Amino acid sequence: MKEVASGPVGQVRIAPSILSADFGSLATGVELVDAQTDWLHVDVMDGHFVPNITIGPPVVKSLRRYSDKFFDCHLMISQPDRYLEAFRDAGANGCTVHVEVGGTSELIAQMRSLGLHVGLAANPDTPFSAVEPYLADLDLLLLMTAFPGFGGQAFMGEVMDKVRLARERIDEGHLALNLEVDGGIDPDTIGVARKAGANVFVAGNAIFARPDPLAAAATLREAALLSA
Ligand code: DX5
Ligand code: ZN
Repeated sequence: MKEVASGPVGQVRIAPSILSADFGSLATGVELVDAQTDWLHVDVMDGHFVPNITIGPPVVKSLRRYSDKFFDCHLMISQPDRYLEAFRDAGANGCTVHVEVGGTSELIAQMRSLGLHVGLAANPDTPFSAVEPYLADLDLLLLMTAFPGFGGQAFMGEVMDKVRLARERIDEGHLALNLEVDGGIDPDTIGVARKAGANVFVAGNAIFARPDPLAAAATLREAALLSA
């Protein structure tokens, strides 16, 4: 696995989601936004945990040749235990599994032993109590601000109570944990999520569906930093 640092915990990070890029020329999209982004968010869907099917380890392996970024792989799949090693071998730096699939303690241990940054995600309607017991064992908590499966959905502001609660617990416990939001992040909603306490911002449509994705990424970062 290529060692890529995730950067200082808690700092603003822009993570473009390649789900909204042109799958026929992913490398071009990834290189295009490189200068104004921090991580690369890779959305993996299995047609089972979510209705959609996207990409797997071979695509991660190919993209690794075009990017030195921290690869933040969001596994929206029912049996992540079967694929974690393949993603690690392909060049994933961090993997995020969903708490809704179960077996969370075992998955965290497996990710740790593979040398992956350990992420745990929760759907918008999953309560904070479902992820709270694992906080001290994570590198990343992802609180979905849209239901997983598709890009371009509306930001769910009602998730901000959960983001605030997570930020409180992270700060109280002095936990070395990044707090990520994903779904409907744009120049307006990024400020809302930043104020609530998130520090890693996934954005698909707000970057790749814009005429100038590089400028769009820069705009997002400015908006996040201004609203701290
Ligand atoms: C959706 C994915 C997201 C998605 C976000 O299930 O997890 O990462 O690409 O797309 P936008 O930013 O367009 O809502
Ligand atoms: Zn995602």
